[in-house]
Amino acid sequence: MDRIVVTGGNRLEGRVAVAGAKNSVLPMIAAALLTDDQVNLFDIPPLDDVFTIGEVLQRLGADVRLHQPGTVTIRAGDLESCEAPYDLVRKMRASALVMGPLLARLGRAKLPLPGGCAIGSRPIDLHIKGLRALGAIIEAGHGFFEARAGRLRGNRLYLDYPSVGATENLLMAATLAEGVTVIENAAEEPEVADLAALLRKMGARILGAGTKVIRVEGVERLGGASHRAIPDRIEAGTYMVAAAITGGDVYVANAMAEHLDPVIAKLTECGALVIEDAGGVRVVGPDRPRATNVKTLPYPGFPTDMQPQFMALLTLADGSSVITETVFENRFMHVPEFERMGAEIIADGRTAIVKGVPRLSGAPVRATDLRAGAALVLAGLAAEGETDVWGVHHLDRGYVNIEGKLRSLGAKVARVEDRLLARRSS
Ligand code: UD1
Repeated sequence: MDRIVVTGGNRLEGRVAVAGAKNSVLPMIAAALLTDDQVNLFDIPPLDDVFTIGEVLQRLGADVRLHQPGTVTIRAGDLESCEAPYDLVRKMRASALVMGPLLARLGRAKLPLPGGCAIGSRPIDLHIKGLRALGAIIEAGHGFFEARAGRLRGNRLYLDYPSVGATENLLMAATLAEGVTVIENAAEEPEVADLAALLRKMGARILGAGTKVIRVEGVERLGGASHRAIPDRIEAGTYMVAAAITGGDVYVANAMAEHLDPVIAKLTECGALVIEDAGGVRVVGPDRPRATNVKTLPYPGFPTDMQPQFMALLTLADGSSVITETVFENRFMHVPEFERMGAEIIADGRTAIVKGVPRLSGAPVRATDLRAGAALVLAGLAAEGETDVWGVHHLDRGYVNIEGKLRSLGAKVARVEDRLLARRSS
């Protein structure tokens, strides 16, 4: 029951470094199932989501070791199971990424049906449809998908929507399929290209990852490899908004500007000064942000994972902004929490109108998901008085030491463990 207590009003200044990208690392760990050789991954952030996928692999029988600083070694020699455990898949939906590799390597996979989550129904129908087109027989029953296949066969796959997870699952499955697979309308996210870079080092033949059409020529086997994950563009974007919302001046080291184009464009429209160089991005915040409209889209559009943080910024803008969420059906759960802090927002379906107010007031609020939690911390940095952000476990899924990094920039942020509650429940 930890919470983060933010005392607002400090202008952030200094340098902060972002970690390896969580959303690259999760599929990369799953990709290690494709070989019985050792896979070494570097710049691995010590996040709860990373531990969860590591545990999924361990339960399948892989040897997963986390070494300091940030190195993971995985050897999926003899796998004992082909079932992704329900308790872990419920906790983190990206666990579904083991399905493609398991099918390709073992010809069997068992995965719990996805169920609901905080930001919408999040089905995996596109993963299933694609795997079936590669020759898998997949049946649903008793809350699980059960899949089996001989050697998968390459095919032409068209994704009805450029789903990141479906693209990654199918890409991994196709590496060991017989013949050529073409994934059309594929997700173009940098994390897909990063996964493909690892797979190529393992011996896969892939062209076009990071574009809408990916071509994979299947090989008989993949081997071990070593790879360093790209920097996390969402963590970088979050600190860039932290600079903007406090009128600060922050250099975000490791931020790759080419992965952050829409975020940089929108920060500039809000009046921030953004200076890019080879080592990172510097953001100098405006006295007061200007209103602007934001529409989330698949990459290279504006990332849905930055939508709550931008809403935090726009609550304080001079004027009204329209935020349209097109990626997830239910990603405005943070709106009532911002309202508790004095924000004026009208949300209807996938659209929110944010009428900027001159100031927010600190309040107790609850993080409903990972990025909503980050957004509430950002709002707290700019609010008057104290903001208690509950539900910190969400933040630990995706941010390495967020309170320490913000403190190093001059913010007043502390993590408080609710010992009384901990004692009562023990
Ligand atoms: C990934 C990211 C997540 C990010 C999201 C969108 C990881 C581990 N997570 O999630 O942080 O918010 O991309 O950028 O990389 N959909 C279907 N059927 C499917 C698959 C997806 O309808 O089979 C829908 C989803 O419900 C959602 C949309 O497609 O509305 C996008 O989902 P997707 O791109 O698959 O996101 P994830 O891979 O789950």
